[in-house]
Amino acid sequence: MAARSALAVLLGLHMLLQIISAPLYSASALSTSYYDKSCPQLEKLVAYAVSKAIKNDNTVPAALLRMHFHDCFIRGCDGSVLLNSTRNNKAEKDGPANISLHAFYVIDNAKKAVEAACPGTVSCADILALAARDAVALSGGPRWEVPKGRLDGRISLASETRLLPAPTFSLSQLKQSFSQRGLSVNDLVALSGGHTLGFAHCSSFQNRIHSFNATHDVDPTLSPSFATGLRNTCPARNVAKNAGSTLDSTATVFDNVYYKMLIQGKSIFSSDQALLSSPKTAALVAKFAGSREAFGSAFAESMIKMSSLTGGGQEIRLDCKAIR
Ligand code: HEM
Ligand SMILES: *[C@@H]1O[C@H](CO)[C@@H](O)[C@H](O)[C@H]1NC(C)=O
Ligand SMILES: *[C@@H]1O[C@H](CO)[C@@H](O)[C@H](O)[C@H]1NC(C)=O
Ligand SMILES: *[C@@H]1O[C@H](CO)[C@@H](O)[C@H](O)[C@H]1NC(C)=O
Repeated sequence: MAARSALAVLLGLHMLLQIISAPLYSASALSTSYYDKSCPQLEKLVAYAVSKAIKNDNTVPAALLRMHFHDCFIRGCDGSVLLNSTRNNKAEKDGPANISLHAFYVIDNAKKAVEAACPGTVSCADILALAARDAVALSGGPRWEVPKGRLDGRISLASETRLLPAPTFSLSQLKQSFSQRGLSVNDLVALSGGHTLGFAHCSSFQNRIHSFNATHDVDPTLSPSFATGLRNTCPARNVAKNAGSTLDSTATVFDNVYYKMLIQGKSIFSSDQALLSSPKTAALVAKFAGSREAFGSAFAESMIKMSSLTGGGQEIRLDCKAIR
């Protein structure tokens, strides 16, 4: 009896240790041919939903790319970003970092088409990973084969959006945020190039243009004329609700202009500027600024890595906004 309970204690301890030492995120076995037999029309159906939406709204690609990034950085790519809040739970969507998340309807339309063709077969997390790839490819960026087989999670907590990197992060904070997810410094510099698409609200870069620090009102690493433009758009007080700036001068084209502007002191976030603060990251910035092809292939490779972070997904949702 005593031996049995001692064994039980040991087993319990072993399990506890396993839980504690389990990595926060893991890369599980995904496959590019995962739905070849069960849903051969999948990729066409998702691409159709994405391209149809882009025709009506050219902010859709940026929205889908950021949505997938947020999904993957919280609990792995498990569709947690897609879930609605419920009576008892405030979801990621309604968390503090939700600013600018939109175009959820594109995923819902794709899911509806996929459910009609292959009911109960394809996860929302996989649909989002495909939609983000299509968003980039349809904006003039690279195209890559998406490994599939993610499962949808059942947990989405607004409080966990604090786990996302902040636009005020230093290089060491960014590196830590990425390395916690198995992503390298190369991945950090390449994936930051996602800021070649889209828009930021004033609140996301207000720190750089007003009361920057004790000696400078404006971040001195910003080009003065660029900073003046941002300050005109975003005054210190009474900022208009939708005021802000595009992340580069070609915000609907997936090109390498983001890196060119970064070198000229024309980046939007402190976290973008931070990529110039070490020789290694600055050299990668220079490489991507010099070659759209080098950026495209590095971005595709890093997206596959980020996109393969799977969490504790458990099911195939039928409605991407609600657990089964
Ligand atoms: C490196 C750390 C990162 C930080 C600190 C960061 C931060 C931000 C912030 C603050 C915004 C603007 C929100 C707003 O004001 O509306 C934004 C927008 C955006 N981010 Fe990032 N981000 C990071 C990495 C990424 C990655 C890895 C991707 C994708 C590969 C990405 C893609 C985007 C896109 C496309 C937008 C524009 C969204 C839109 O216009 O709808 N970001 N990011
Ligand atoms: C973001 O969160 C706020 C506060 O909970 C909420 O009012 C708003 O609707 C959310 N935005 C989106 C796009 O879900
Ligand atoms: C303000 O920022 C600039 C540029 O990063 C830096 O050189 C300066 O030392 C900072 N001043 C203070 C008081 O931190
Ligand atoms: C999710 O929220 C949206 C927006 O509030 C609403 O239109 C939709 O019906 C909700 N769906 C579910 C399944 O809760």
